[in-house]
Amino acid sequence: MDVARAIALRINHKRDLFDYDDLIGGDKYVTEDIPHFVTIPTTAGTGSEVGRSAIISEDSSKKKRILFSPKLMAKIVFADPLLTMELPPFITAATGMDALTHNMEAYLAKNYHPMCDGIALEGIALIADSLEIATHNPNVDSRAKMLLASLMGAVAFQKGLGIVHSLAHPLSSLLDTHHGLANAVNLPYGMQFNYEGFENRFDKMADAFGLRTKAGNRVVEYLFEMNDKLGMPTKLSEIDVKQEHIKELSDLAEADFCHPNNPKPVTREDFKTLYQKAL
Ligand SMILES: [Fe+2]
Repeated sequence: MDVARAIALRINHKRDLFDYDDLIGGDKYVTEDIPHFVTIPTTAGTGSEVGRSAIISEDSSKKKRILFSPKLMAKIVFADPLLTMELPPFITAATGMDALTHNMEAYLAKNYHPMCDGIALEGIALIADSLEIATHNPNVDSRAKMLLASLMGAVAFQKGLGIVHSLAHPLSSLLDTHHGLANAVNLPYGMQFNYEGFENRFDKMADAFGLRTKAGNRVVEYLFEMNDKLGMPTKLSEIDVKQEHIKELSDLAEADFCHPNNPKPVTREDFKTLYQKAL
C-alpha cells in the first residue's frame, strides 16, 4: 500500500521521489492532485490503509524516508476480514505484533492527544482478545478484531511512535528483517525501558490486556509470554543479529524518526544497551 501511494504521488509530481520526504520539509512540494485511489488491506498489521504516507527505505543510507501528505489518504478503505482468513500463522503473528506495537507506542507517545490514547487502549484490548486465536485457530471474529485493531493503531500513531520502532527499523533496512517480527522481538525490551516513570500508563495498558488492576509491572512479562505463545522469537540472536551488527544498528536507531516521540529520551548508548540485552 505504501508503494501504491508513492506511485499515486508520482503521477502528478515529477521531482526526485525523496525530495518529498517529510523530514526535510518535502511535504511542501505536494501541491498537485493525487489520483483517486482505494486501499484494501490483506494483512492486519501496518494499518497503512488509513495512513497518509509512503515509508520507503533508501538503499544508499539504509534510512527510512517518509513521503507524507494528507492528500495521500485513501478516498475509500475496504477492510474485509475475509481477505485475511488464509494468512499463515507467522505472518498473522508478526503483523499482529506490529499492530500491537503501534497501539502501545502511540498510547505512550509524549504528545498530548486523549482521543488517540482512547483508540490505542481499545486497540490493545482487541488484540489481547484475538491475536492468539487469529494465529492458531482463525475465525472471522478474531480476524475482524485484528483488522480493526490494526487500523486503530495507525490512527492512534498519528500522535507518534517511539523507541520500539526505532529499534526495529534498522533491522529491516540492514538485515531485511520482517517489520512486524522486528517489532515483536524488541517490544518487551523497549517497554521495559519505558516503564519507570510511566507506571500509571502501564497500569491502564495492563487493564486493556485483561491483567489484574494496577498490574502495569506485569506488562513486560506478559509481552514475553505473548511472543512465546505466538511462536515469535524473544532474542535477536534467533533472527540472525550478530554482535558485530550492534554498532551500526545503534547508529541507525539514533537517526530514526520515531524515538523523538518516545515518552522518555533515548540516547545512542541506550540503543546499544537494549540491542545487547535483546541479543
Ligand atoms: Fe510498524
